[in-house]
Amino acid sequence: SKGIAIFTSGGDSAGMNPAVKCAAEYAARVGYKPWVVYDGLRGLIDDKFAEADRALMSGILHRGGTFLRSSRSKRFFDIAYRRQAYENLQKRGIEKLIVVGGDGSFRAMNQFYADFGVPFAGIPATIDNDIPETDYCLGVDTALNMIRQSVDSIRDTADSFSRAFVIEVMGRHCGYLAMVSALACGAEVCLTPELPYNMDSIGERLRRDLKSGRNYILAIVAEGTKMGDYLTRWINDSIGMEARLTVLGHVQRGGSPTVRDRLMAYKFAVGAVDALERGEKDSIMIYRDGTYSTKPIHQVCDSRYELDPAVLRLCQPLCQ
Ligand code: F6P
Repeated sequence: SKGIAIFTSGGDSAGMNPAVKCAAEYAARVGYKPWVVYDGLRGLIDDKFAEADRALMSGILHRGGTFLRSSRSKRFFDIAYRRQAYENLQKRGIEKLIVVGGDGSFRAMNQFYADFGVPFAGIPATIDNDIPETDYCLGVDTALNMIRQSVDSIRDTADSFSRAFVIEVMGRHCGYLAMVSALACGAEVCLTPELPYNMDSIGERLRRDLKSGRNYILAIVAEGTKMGDYLTRWINDSIGMEARLTVLGHVQRGGSPTVRDRLMAYKFAVGAVDALERGEKDSIMIYRDGTYSTKPIHQVCDSRYELDPAVLRLCQPLCQ
């Protein structure tokens, strides 16, 4: 039967494992012979394929990260290595690919399709939630829950010791994780690349709050603002409250996928196999305004991501 290969690429995120498992099992059900590739694009070049049989697909659903491992491959930019990857597919009769990853990985697959005509479907997965056209990328909910748990813990010590905490969250250039966690955790301040902030009015507001009885402050900053150190010193010096900086770092990328991430993984995975079955050749899975669909890669990668206007509005008071 016709072969299909599934792999993960770029920054790992929770939800990748359920996506791989569901894609492999659903593809088998509709008549494909499913394969997986280890180490992302690097494994495609270096021939790290395995048959996605029942044994291999067992016990992975609840695991964070990606059991297939991932990579960011420079060699894939070179046509000679892409040809090597193509030969690896050909010798196994693999005609279609499913890539679970970010827009860089989708672009690489688009180039591969242009070179050798191998159709692919892309499943958005990154904790940054910065892939255009889709409201959701796998891993975001798990990352938000990890952040929520950490910020709740920090609040305990902040309150007990009457301190300010600046908490830097990931997201690369995108402020989505910062905004949603600031709202969910009740932070007083949130700085993101998307919203202009006014330190004077933030200062007035904080001083007013402290005067009327507030005894601690939580501020969440997106790593993309590079404001963590500055804001911590500023709270110390101009607000006069002892401040500490916590950079949450890679704990945000790990952890067992939440129910939302598992369910989204299933829907995207089935959608990806169905899109390939319909004859779509370069589709990305999309979830927008509660509806699932697909879009050709150029429509996704040629646009800019836009954050939910409602979230932006709710965060506005946190940077004024
Ligand atoms: O894209 C996911 C992400 O975790 C970003 O939020 C962060 O900026 C980056 O990857 C960290 O990259 P690395 O894991 O290479 O340190």
